[in-house]
Amino acid sequence: SVSLRAMFLGYGNVGKALRKMIKERGEKTGLNVKIEAVVNRSGIMLEDSDNFIKNKEGGPIDALNMTNPDVIIDVSSANYESGEPSLSLYREALSRGIHVVTANKAPLALRYGEIMDLAKKHSASVGFQATVMSGTPSINLLRLMRGLKIVKIRGILNGTTNYILTRMHQGLEYDQALKEAQALGYAETNPEHDVNGFDAAAKLTILTNFAMGLNLSIKDVVFSGIENIRKSSLKGKKVKLIAYSEGRFAKVSPEEITKEDPLYNVEGVMNALDIHSDIQEVVIMGPGAGPQNAAFGLFSDIVLITKGLI
Ligand code: HSE
Repeated sequence: SVSLRAMFLGYGNVGKALRKMIKERGEKTGLNVKIEAVVNRSGIMLEDSDNFIKNKEGGPIDALNMTNPDVIIDVSSANYESGEPSLSLYREALSRGIHVVTANKAPLALRYGEIMDLAKKHSASVGFQATVMSGTPSINLLRLMRGLKIVKIRGILNGTTNYILTRMHQGLEYDQALKEAQALGYAETNPEHDVNGFDAAAKLTILTNFAMGLNLSIKDVVFSGIENIRKSSLKGKKVKLIAYSEGRFAKVSPEEITKEDPLYNVEGVMNALDIHSDIQEVVIMGPGAGPQNAAFGLFSDIVLITKGLI
């Protein structure tokens, strides 16, 4: 089996689910990942029986120097102001040829080109399946579609809003549906980012860049959300928050969709992606959030990196 030494940035629900997955499924997959350290706001933590306990003061770069890992696993929450502290850590790690696997959308939605160029220059890999549709292969499906020209992408990329719209279609009021969605635990730390379309726009930015070889930033994507949609204004029609991209033109907006649409039956917290290439159309559907799903997105990236496929 392949041994990898990892350092985690952040250690919340996704990090914990990933650690469990590595323990339970790593060996079967021929993967032996050792978590050398976890770094978060309170400092550098080391494993102590079944927990991580504080060992030292220090930030991400101190932890990097201390552990010199093979891979950084970013499960910290998104900071769309600056991408920090992830961005600085990525720069340092990638420059040393250390791989990065991330569930954090902010660095790639802000500085995609810079991160990829740096990785390429130092023969390091960046895995980011977990940033788009969590563990449902979206980015990693596109890795299998090399050689095709991706001309258009349409998707439902935010589970929270799709859940709210589904429940409103079933007759619930907006506020009630939003409360239910939050109780499910899929909403962002800042749920405003779900309902105003920002989270879907961040995912669309990353997806478009990868699928079409571009370097968009979230600031290039036009987005609007569902915060003004009410049950009464739906009048029985089916509206979905659609992420649409044909490259430089990328936008997120609520749209009425018809029964013939492949996205029509995507309900609840499900996500979906409709990829149009120059020779085929591929439609996929699956969960787009939740600790286990996100952990699997990270897990699959680690496996692909060890096999030289990322
Ligand atoms: N808040 C996101 C969603 C979580 O609801 O889809 C996954 O990025």
